[in-house]
This record gives sequence, structure tokens and C-alpha cells, in this order.
Amino acid sequence: MSNEETKDTPAPFGSVIAPHMASLRFSGGHWGGAQITPVEPLSLHPAAHVLHYGSSCFEGMKAFRSTDGPVRIFRIDRHLVRLQHSAELLCLPFPPLDIVENMIRRVVESNESVVPQPPGALYLRPVLIGTHEGIGGAGKPSPEALLYVLASPVGDYFSGGAHPLRILIEDQAMRTTPGFGQAKSGGNYAASLRHVKHARDRYGAEQVLFCPGGDVQETGASNFFLFDDRRVLTKPLSPAFLHGVTRDSILVLARELGYEVIERDFTVAELKDWIRTGEAALSGTAAVLSGVGSFIHDGAELTVGDGRIGPNTLRLRNALLAIQSGNAEDRFGWLS
Ligand SMILES: Cc1ncc(COP(=O)(O)O)c(C=O)c1O
Repeated sequence: MSNEETKDTPAPFGSVIAPHMASLRFSGGHWGGAQITPVEPLSLHPAAHVLHYGSSCFEGMKAFRSTDGPVRIFRIDRHLVRLQHSAELLCLPFPPLDIVENMIRRVVESNESVVPQPPGALYLRPVLIGTHEGIGGAGKPSPEALLYVLASPVGDYFSGGAHPLRILIEDQAMRTTPGFGQAKSGGNYAASLRHVKHARDRYGAEQVLFCPGGDVQETGASNFFLFDDRRVLTKPLSPAFLHGVTRDSILVLARELGYEVIERDFTVAELKDWIRTGEAALSGTAAVLSGVGSFIHDGAELTVGDGRIGPNTLRLRNALLAIQSGNAEDRFGWLS
């Protein structure tokens, strides 16, 4: 790890890689033994399946240092099942869940000294790729694979002050294909990148909210919520978008706090109506819950409420951060 991450100038999220990684290879129909090594370049044949046919999926979760000492991972069970499901969709071999869990825990242990204090965390990134050598494999799954786990000490996403986000509403293009949105696969990010870049270059927007045919789905890297003082509205789970662990956690906390949780499809027209008085926010492991200050749609700027992060967004975000950082009881058993 470089010494660049100081209290004054936190390094950009994910830019500092912790010193140790885990890796495990699948070959000849078997998984080998997991190894912990210093982070080192991968040795991959230039004909590796992943480099040509995009056989890659990954996860992103956080481990938090608790006030009583140990470092605990937030909802690792959910992330493991999602990785397994992504692997299935990509026809990649997948080891037993306990082996993957053990690799991730060993990565946390071996990088223990670089885990920051909360609300900072150790971000964990398991990656699974197809490594079979050959450039005639377009229609065949890779019979060889590599699973590896990286870690990155990350600061409070909101350090320097949470700012309301500016989001472009894209009401034509899809982020990815309808059935593949639930996979956390590199190809989905590649597919949406040009839209996100366009939003940034043309409108100075931080993200794109994908709403194909007017159906409000998710952004390029987070799920989407509408709030008011009584209600939480979000799209119901479907294969079209990523089933966020943060999304689920916010819904659990919202119910506990007495909000009416509504999971149903809604349109851009309804969103525009809602934000006259209500709030909008993005949820994800990195961003926790980030308030939206304005949307851009059809060339017009639409302010959300008074343009500041709303009280319900802050309340739910703080409720989640309190559990993650050990300031509130872990009453749902999310940290382990
Ligand atoms: C496309 C997309 N949707 C939603 C999410 C939120 O998922 P989670 O809350 O599990 O981090 C992410 C981030 O991982 C994402 O990349």
C-alpha cells in the first residue's frame, strides 16, 4: 500500500490496494488449494477466455473494524450467494461457498493492519475469470478459471461533506440486457460506460439513471430509491438489475423505522412528480445511501425538493452506518 492515503487527502475509492491477495485455480475439473500471497501481477495467456469472451464476475463488500477490536464483514452471506449466481449466469465453475468465504476472511486477516477505523472500511473484491487458452471458444464455457480476492482500504465516501448528486435520466437505453442485469459482471459495466461518460462530459452529471422505456431501474453502479416522510419506493427485484445488498438493508431498516415500504415499478413521470416534494437516493456498498440533488431530463434541470440531501435519506443512511461502524447494536446479525 502506498502512503498516499492520509487523513487530509483520502485516496479515491479503490485506488489503494492492500498488500495481500488470495487466489485459487480451477483446472482439470478440480479446484486447487487457496494461496495467500503479496499482490502480484497475474500470469494469463493472451488467448485467455476472459480477455476475448468476457467471462468475468466479481463482488464488492466491506469489512469494518469494530470498537471491541475484531474486523467483521458486512453481510458476506449475501455477497457470496450473489457471486455464485453471477458465476452460474456466466457458465463459470464455482467452488463451495465455504472455500470462497475462507479466502475472503484470510484476505481480511492478512491485511488486518491496514483496515481503517469506521466509517472507513476494508473493501473486498473477489473476482472470478475464465482462463482457458484458445481463441475459438466463443460458444463454449471456459473449463479453467481463476478466483482471486483483492482488498482496498477505503475512507468515508462522504469525507469532505456529503454533496447532493446530479444524475442524468436516460429514458431510452438499457444499462445491459434484461436478463443479465442481475449478474455482477464486467461486461455490464463496459456496456453502460459510454452512457455514463456522455452524462459526465456533456452534462457534468455524476451518474446515469437507466429508465428504458420510462421504467426506472438503477444507475450504472447503484440501486435507486424515492423517499418521503412516510414512504420508501423502489423497484421490485427482477433479473433486469443488480439485487443490491445495501438496497435490501435499507428496506429492512426502513420497515423497522416505521416507513411504508413499497416495491413496485414506477415511471420517470412519477419520479418527476415525486421529487417536487420528496427525496431521491442511490444505494450501494461504496456510497451507502447518497442523496440526489437534481436530475437532468430532456435537457432540463429538475431540482429534488430544495436541492439538499433530505432528512429521510440522512436518517436511513445514518441508521445503516451506525450498525456498520458498531455504534448501534447489530440486531440483524449482519456483521460476522
Ligand atoms: C449496477 C449496480 N447496481 C446496484 C449496486 C448496489 O449493490 P450493493 O448494494 O450490493 O453494493 C451496485 C454496486 O455494487 C451496482 O454496481
